[in-house]
Amino acid sequence: MAFHCGSLALLLICVAGTLQPIKSSEYIGKLIPRHDKWAQAIKGEYIPMQFYDAMRSAENSKQAFQNQIRNFGEHLQRNLTMSNVLSLRHENQLNTEHQRRKLHELSAFFYTAADVAGVFARDSEISFEVAKNSSYTLLLQLRQIPSTQPIPVKMLLTNYFAEMEFFHIMFSEIIDEALEYTQNILLATQKTFTYYADVQRFVLENWNFKGDAFCCKEYMEFLKHYSDQIFKCAVGRGLDIAFDVFAMTELTSKYVMRQLEFRIQRLFNCLYLGSYEIRCKFLQNAEKDFEMLFTKIEELEIFYDIKIKNGRVSSLRQRRQAHIEEDATNSVKAHDNCIPEDFPRSQMHKSLKLCFYNITEY
Ligand SMILES: *[C@@H]1O[C@H](CO)[C@@H](O)[C@H](O)[C@H]1NC(C)=O
Ligand SMILES: *[C@@H]1O[C@H](CO)[C@@H](O)[C@H](O)[C@H]1NC(C)=O
Ligand SMILES: *[C@@H]1O[C@H](CO)[C@@H](O)[C@H](O)[C@H]1NC(C)=O
Repeated sequence: MAFHCGSLALLLICVAGTLQPIKSSEYIGKLIPRHDKWAQAIKGEYIPMQFYDAMRSAENSKQAFQNQIRNFGEHLQRNLTMSNVLSLRHENQLNTEHQRRKLHELSAFFYTAADVAGVFARDSEISFEVAKNSSYTLLLQLRQIPSTQPIPVKMLLTNYFAEMEFFHIMFSEIIDEALEYTQNILLATQKTFTYYADVQRFVLENWNFKGDAFCCKEYMEFLKHYSDQIFKCAVGRGLDIAFDVFAMTELTSKYVMRQLEFRIQRLFNCLYLGSYEIRCKFLQNAEKDFEMLFTKIEELEIFYDIKIKNGRVSSLRQRRQAHIEEDATNSVKAHDNCIPEDFPRSQMHKSLKLCFYNITEY
């Protein structure tokens, strides 16, 4: 542009000017009438945008969750250290305040960890549901085919539709398997984190902590030990496997969608361009055409079997556990197998117990 766009009006003209070339390319699209389904078929993008969005959200919340729990042990050691208090005795009061804040931060950490676990559970559930829906949406595309096809072609199409429908059913089943497994693990993790944070907050709010240097040190040592154990237990019940199962399922889903889209494009192209015998050969053997896709989900099934084999037992156990918990929802105390019985009262030594003025049952 040779103009100097000084004023707003001129600027708009300049912008409009730069947009001109884009408009002209739109014209090409107009050569094929918009209402023509076949035209859409040729340009065809059939995978719903929602599919990619859901995948991205789930991937991001998986990242957020992994970041939250990464290097937990190191952070714990660093946050709950008393070295400052011991070396700077004259600043005792100040430092104890600092340590008390750290105690609150520890329960805040577990609340946050529970939240991000919950977000990942929700987003991964949505992404799995959307994957199933997208596979169905793609299947329905075949219904768009005009019914004016010659009878033999119609029969082949019916056959092809049946094969794709069968694939959709198998695909949905295997997605459900991944869904159930990952949800069980993620929700159990979330529950443990929340319960542990609740206990810590309850103690700080109700037990009337003495909070001098000695007690801070004692309680920090205590929390360091149990936080580490409880954290390891919570993430050690197959969380790694859940991440792997999620990742592999997403990967397979993307592959499956692209393959289904390719099949629809190819089918629409072949019907649009005619000469079935040459271009639509794949229609004559629908089973063979979907073979690769079935192999792909068989591979996923094998992957689950290897990964979940031990996990499946514990997942069943957790489900039983969940039922027990459901029965006990009326009682305030939610039992959690990562947190010891009557924690933290039963685990405290006498000297630590003396650091609290009012020890009550949680
Ligand atoms: C450690 O302290 C940092 C900064 O105060 C906080 O963001 C983090 O959640 C804490 N981590 C743990 C495990 O307490
Ligand atoms: C999937 O499709 C069903 C039925 O059409 C719908 O009720 C549900 O909301 C969809 N789920 C998602 C996550 O889009
Ligand atoms: C001890 O805690 C209980 C429950 O939190 C409360 O009802 C009671 O008043 C507290 N007693 C003292 C002495 O602070």
